[in-house]
Amino acid sequence: MESLIEEAKKCQEDAIKEIESASSSSRLMEIRNIYLSKKGRLSSLLSELRNVEAKDKGRVGAILNKAREAVQNAFLAREKQLKEEEMKKELEKETIDISLPGRNFTPGTINPFYLIRDEICDIFASMGFRIVEGNDIESERYNFELLNMPHDHPARDMQDTFYLTNGLLLRTQTSAAQAHTLEEDLSKGPLRIVSPGKCYRRDDDDMTHSHQFGQVEGLVVGKGVSMADLKGTLALFVKKMFGEKRKIRLRSSYFPFTEPSVEVDVSCAKCGGKGCNMCKGTGWIEILGAGEVHPNVLKMGGYDPKEVSGFAFGVGIERVAMLRYGIDDIRRFYQNDIRFLASFHQED
Ligand code: PHE
Repeated sequence: MESLIEEAKKCQEDAIKEIESASSSSRLMEIRNIYLSKKGRLSSLLSELRNVEAKDKGRVGAILNKAREAVQNAFLAREKQLKEEEMKKELEKETIDISLPGRNFTPGTINPFYLIRDEICDIFASMGFRIVEGNDIESERYNFELLNMPHDHPARDMQDTFYLTNGLLLRTQTSAAQAHTLEEDLSKGPLRIVSPGKCYRRDDDDMTHSHQFGQVEGLVVGKGVSMADLKGTLALFVKKMFGEKRKIRLRSSYFPFTEPSVEVDVSCAKCGGKGCNMCKGTGWIEILGAGEVHPNVLKMGGYDPKEVSGFAFGVGIERVAMLRYGIDDIRRFYQNDIRFLASFHQED
């Protein structure tokens, strides 16, 4: 019995000495296992208690438990100490050298595509047009049928369409927004809207073509809306966008959803109409398609073409931006070249 007590004291001393000299948490855990685990030295001493005579059991048991408790406390204290030391070392390793100069994050710039898109919308908004959003993914019904292009209409071939596998398509023109607006306008006019957005057509990408491009669609419907209104509105738009001196010229054209249809040219800003390389010697540059809304389109939209009339137009956003800024290649809008984009930096 006495030897058991001796042994417990020895064990306690050894353990505490080792615990205090443990130099890392992992070493400390090893020591813990040797002394305090289920099969550890202190536990096996405790299990020898059953050989001690009953009358001494209480006293010896208390001594053994005290030894265990002392070792346990030494362990906890050392564990805390080591954790703190290790954390301190870790933090020292991770200190940041605040004397290094910071990285310079210059604010981005708005792509000129969006600058011009917003400017076009602002100009029309100032004339009382409401801005409506369209959908990039459309059904044939809105992109073609309600625009007077039934399934077998040859004009569909003018727009090489990206069809999706579910029968929908990527809209080929923002004109799809015309059909939506007519349908959704419960007051049945008068209405004046512009709808900006992206369009998609299968096209070879070169300096002037892209499979994806932007348009702003315009639609006006009301009593007695005429070609004169169309001409006046677009002449004002062109002056606001390109300057007071710019004139427009209408050339007759064809779109299934307008009748009559026109293509609108703006007088060349570079040569003032004399003819140069920019306008290919003609003095004029084409910027948009337009016309009086076709009676069939009004009818399909729930309007009575005998009561109301309207005009519509579609402006190419990149086209306008290229003319306005003198950009020579449409691909520049999509390449994210910082040197190009930064040249459109706008002061706040
Ligand atoms: N949707 C036509 C196009 O993409 C442009 C247009 C719009 C023409 C509205 C007339 C009226 O070519």
